[in-house]
Amino acid sequence: MAGATLIDGKAMAARLTETIKTKTAALSEHGITPGLAVVIVGEDSASQVYVRNKKRTAEACGFLSVQHSVDKDCSQDELLELIRTLNDDADIHGILVQLPIPDHLDATLVTQSVLPAKDVDGFHYENIGKLTAGNLAGTFVPCTPAGCMLMIEEQLGLDLSGLDAVIIGRSIIVGKPMASLLLAANATVTICHSRTKDLPQVARRADILVAAVGRPNMVKGDWIKPGAVVIDVGINRIDITVDGEAKSKLTGDVQFDEAVHIAAAITPVPGGVGPMTIAMLMANTLRSAERTQESV
Ligand code: GUN
Repeated sequence: MAGATLIDGKAMAARLTETIKTKTAALSEHGITPGLAVVIVGEDSASQVYVRNKKRTAEACGFLSVQHSVDKDCSQDELLELIRTLNDDADIHGILVQLPIPDHLDATLVTQSVLPAKDVDGFHYENIGKLTAGNLAGTFVPCTPAGCMLMIEEQLGLDLSGLDAVIIGRSIIVGKPMASLLLAANATVTICHSRTKDLPQVARRADILVAAVGRPNMVKGDWIKPGAVVIDVGINRIDITVDGEAKSKLTGDVQFDEAVHIAAAITPVPGGVGPMTIAMLMANTLRSAERTQESV
């Protein structure tokens, strides 16, 4: 059986980044350089990698890129004070606090203290509210679902009328905003989670299947409707043995080697959703900077 089309997120993100670079250069001629501040608390190794990639891409786009590495034992007040400083800094158009943050800090309080106009993650309730209301133009769409949506549109077009979309995972970062976006594109949307009855059966209904649970290889080939578009948001590091040597590798939430024979199109891990998430962060930051020009 012929294999699915591989949705090349890396190539798509590279194209987007080129466009952002050009627009950034044009904006800089008007005296505005997009500024992105990324805050990382503690030493979580996966977060360190993500933040390094965000910084590198921001620099490649021609942004002002600032990283604040905060000690894992910092107090809530210290972190909030840093965010206040960034909120007040006219050179900073986007603020991102990399999640997760240590347990002694209140993640909700932290994400809600970012000024909505600089909330390039789209986590502030004001932005979530706009997204939920269908006001996509007036909000910052969270980066991972925004990137997934572009990949879905590339396969199926802008109008998803009559198509069934199933999202596995109900997180505030991916599952819930993904549902709002798919709904805005006229898909019929189901959100599944750990309490869903007969998950494989629900997944089999999906013309568009988005897996965002963080469980390696959970979605099996026989959960997938033949011809579906499969978006694998999972980035899981698993231990493997190669020639008797212990190694690790990244794997998605979907059992790729099974799914690739059944789906029409599928995102690989790595090289699918991950690069698109970063590209969308750049797009949101550029947009935030452009808005400051529109308001003068
Ligand atoms: N951790 C995992 N994904 C994300 C994201 O999109 N934004 C932030 N701030 N932290 C994350």
